[in-house]
Amino acid sequence: MSRQVEQRIQELRRQLHDHGHRYYVLDAPLLSDGEYDLLFQELVELEAGHPELISEDSPTHRVGGAPLAGFETVEHLVPMLSLDNVFSAEGMGEFEDKVRRYLRLEGEISYVTEPKLDGLAVELVYQQGRLVTGSTRGDGIVGEDITLQLKTVASIPLRLQSGPEPAWPEQLIVRGEVFLPKQGFKELNEQRLEEGLPLFANPRNAAAGSLRQLDSRVTAARPLDFFVYSMSVSEPLGCGGQLELLESLARLGFPVNPLVRGCAGLEQVVAQYERLEQLRHGLDYEIDGMVIKVDRLELQQRLGATARAPRWAVAWKFPAIQATTTIEQVEFQVGRTGVVTPVAWLEPVLVDGAQVRRATLHNQDEIGRKDLRIHDTVLIQRAGDVIPEVVKVVVEKRNGREEAIVFPERCPACETPLEQLEGEVAIRCLNVFCPAQKLQRLIYFAGKNGLDIDGLGKKSVEQLVGVGLVEEIADFFYLEAKQLAGLEGWGEKSAQALLEALERARQPRLDIFIRALGIRHVGEVTASLLAARFADLSALLAADQQQLLDIEGIGFRAAASLEQFLHSPEFARSLSRLEAAGVAIQAVRQQQQALSGRVFLFTGRLEQLSRNEAKELVKAQGGQVVSGLSKRVTDLVAGDKAGSKREKAAAQGIAILSEEGFLELFQS
Ligand code: IVH
Repeated sequence: MSRQVEQRIQELRRQLHDHGHRYYVLDAPLLSDGEYDLLFQELVELEAGHPELISEDSPTHRVGGAPLAGFETVEHLVPMLSLDNVFSAEGMGEFEDKVRRYLRLEGEISYVTEPKLDGLAVELVYQQGRLVTGSTRGDGIVGEDITLQLKTVASIPLRLQSGPEPAWPEQLIVRGEVFLPKQGFKELNEQRLEEGLPLFANPRNAAAGSLRQLDSRVTAARPLDFFVYSMSVSEPLGCGGQLELLESLARLGFPVNPLVRGCAGLEQVVAQYERLEQLRHGLDYEIDGMVIKVDRLELQQRLGATARAPRWAVAWKFPAIQATTTIEQVEFQVGRTGVVTPVAWLEPVLVDGAQVRRATLHNQDEIGRKDLRIHDTVLIQRAGDVIPEVVKVVVEKRNGREEAIVFPERCPACETPLEQLEGEVAIRCLNVFCPAQKLQRLIYFAGKNGLDIDGLGKKSVEQLVGVGLVEEIADFFYLEAKQLAGLEGWGEKSAQALLEALERARQPRLDIFIRALGIRHVGEVTASLLAARFADLSALLAADQQQLLDIEGIGFRAAASLEQFLHSPEFARSLSRLEAAGVAIQAVRQQQQALSGRVFLFTGRLEQLSRNEAKELVKAQGGQVVSGLSKRVTDLVAGDKAGSKREKAAAQGIAILSEEGFLELFQS
């Protein structure tokens, strides 16, 4: 019995290691999450019943263990150094000059470039292919033992993979970066916000905080990830260069960053830097530059290191996305749905190549949590297209002149008392006629998420509302060239272009139109659901709340909000004016979902169209096509020489359609 259990445990561990590697490292799983969980659970239960068979490298150890009293220290066999920085292509040139002088080398130098991951450096020691120790960098000589915490990081191998040949050396020491992906960071902070805990300033701090948890179960709950980038001593794998070394590590089961590139010479290094800079904001983890390493390990050895950093590698940093500046004033802006957002006016500062003058402070809770005050020196951040935000106060810079930020009690646009709805952090103006909300709704209606009318950007809409030409959505369609041409910044050409854009916008699709209205709780998905369910706008207007609630995916909040909006006298007036201006809302192909829920099987030869065309027709109407007879089939389409399927289907009571009958389904 116990022998069998032992074998099963071994087998389960082997399978779970293998599938874990496929899932977390190769991103190519063979099992579904459910199947993986079943195997995992079986192993947990077997190990619980047989404590004598528990092993340190079992995948079950990824869930964390009992809290530690403190961290032990670990001495690094070889010091973990830092990197020197450069900030430009010239800086890179100087780096190469130094390398050449040191090596007295003239020919081209080949490099490996790697994203500079913005996380925490860790060292992992494997003995006989098993992870035995994991540690932080610490001061470079001595780090902290965080083995238990690192074991919870799913992409760190607990055991090395072996191919047909046993490939690992007795002892293997690798280094790499542990980091928290942007999405995980966002979710973690959202959760902390809800629980009233202080927020992490950036993914790196969050990763550090997660790894330095004495209770490794907390670490296990954070979706940390890992990429390997070097070895403590590289001889054991017998590689000639860094690129080859990373390939060997990948074969042993380590995740290697997919953006690692070999570069023949500086020109390619510069091109790769520019490429990474472009890719940077689209990656799901943060990078703060590119690391350039002389590829040949023999040259690396000859170059050696200073006390601080190796001479064979350098970090080329991206321009900072954070900067410090001061808050000069705080303005309160009213959004489309009435939410009042505090926005800080800053002393202008250059961040990631752009002047930043304003940053969102999100809401009142965030102001309190970060303890922000007017005249505070603050760290701000701007990444990609995201609105700049205040990360934290530089408390050391306070001098007593700071003033509290006072949230207004009344709407700054319409004076209506502001309210905080239960369960919300947002503070709102609930007056739907509030001019500020109306303006934002008009901007939204014409903008990218609405009808997307060229020439009606935020500024133009503000102007048109400002001079009184536009008050509600229908007004856009009554604009005339001579009215526009007289306005500041407009000419005949731009006026004409806008009228043409408005002409093109006169037949909006129903889903796009609904979304453009900017109704609270009614986003893109809800708008599509509605457009798929209702043939046209009047059918939607005739629907009562229950009919809305009957649609899968539409909840009470959306239904109530729709009901209120669609049946307001203001909307009725807009609609009739839109209609009078020739705006015709287009139904989303009337019977698009006409066949949803029906499952078709074809048999025999079709005369008027091919099998494939017939299948496409069915799918376009939301139906399904299968290739075998089963209980799920609702319709059998029998062509010429249909054969036995026809009889079987008839016996099962399945509807039988001739080709003609089938085609009739598609005639409206
Ligand atoms: S190589 C001795 N490669 O940057 C060579 N480091 O400023 C040092 N880092 O502490 C490491 N991505 O945490 C290397 N692809 C990469 C890296 C990388 C991020 C970090 C690492 C190190 C710091 C040095």
